[in-house]
Amino acid sequence: MKNTITKAVFPVAGMGSRFLPATKASPKEMMPIVDKPLIQYAVEEAAAAGITDMIFITGRNKRAIEDHFDKAYEVESELAARGKSELLKVLRETVPDSINCIYIRQPEPLGLGHAVLCAKPAVGREPFAVVLADDLIDAPTPVLAQMTGVFERFQCSVLGVQEILPEQTRQYGVIDPVALDRSVDRIRAIVEKPEPALAPSRIAVVGRYILSPEIFEHLERVKPGAGGEIQLTDAIASLLATSGAVAYRFEGTRYDCGSKIGYLAATVALARKHPEVGPQFEALLAELAGRR
Ligand code: G1P
Repeated sequence: MKNTITKAVFPVAGMGSRFLPATKASPKEMMPIVDKPLIQYAVEEAAAAGITDMIFITGRNKRAIEDHFDKAYEVESELAARGKSELLKVLRETVPDSINCIYIRQPEPLGLGHAVLCAKPAVGREPFAVVLADDLIDAPTPVLAQMTGVFERFQCSVLGVQEILPEQTRQYGVIDPVALDRSVDRIRAIVEKPEPALAPSRIAVVGRYILSPEIFEHLERVKPGAGGEIQLTDAIASLLATSGAVAYRFEGTRYDCGSKIGYLAATVALARKHPEVGPQFEALLAELAGRR
């Protein structure tokens, strides 16, 4: 198998119903954490892992994502005319010259597995990453870069995992792990959104995958699963029979920005560290805590 990962797939066609009305007319992936949209954190993480081709699987109401990763000539010339060079730099860094953006439309919301299958023509026969922008992971070494290291070692698909609470198994793909070392498990089985009593463990997949291209053949074959959707997890379960996969317990803090509380937690955590507003925000938090 090819050793380097150059392509990442970002399924961004979801409705974002948990954030209505904020997501009525604009994509949930464009919601900012402090001053950057969620999708930009995801793309920056992929770029930091050496990935150059960013493949977005989009749907209705997602045009803002394309605009975001495009050049904004009008805004740029306005900022240049006003001598706002710092802001101009921030704007230009949104799309590093080294990356290509590819947009594929998912015609119907048939599930995460179906979204990934839509990327097949752009991915071809090479291993690739899948990044769910909802899962924002703050890590000393960006998680995808950690995972490409694991991929190079084991030469098979790698899923990012973390331990969850027993009652949360209904929200995740849950694996049956066999420990290989401190941070890597061989995956014996994987189930999408099991009831706690039926879950094979408390180790759940969060939104980071490195997949071998055979996954597409499995995606083409799987029947609708949990929630009546074509599930990526079911295709991975089928892939396990032919080629192995490992789970990697990454270093870093993951925020579930698909939930309001997770989104708020990410906002607070990243605002506290933010070079411009961090100290002031910290003082504000202290003041608010004193008022309770
Ligand atoms: C998806 C996947 C699930 C995974 C989760 C991680 O579920 O289907 O296997 O554990 O992302 O965030 P969703 O959150 O789209 O329901």
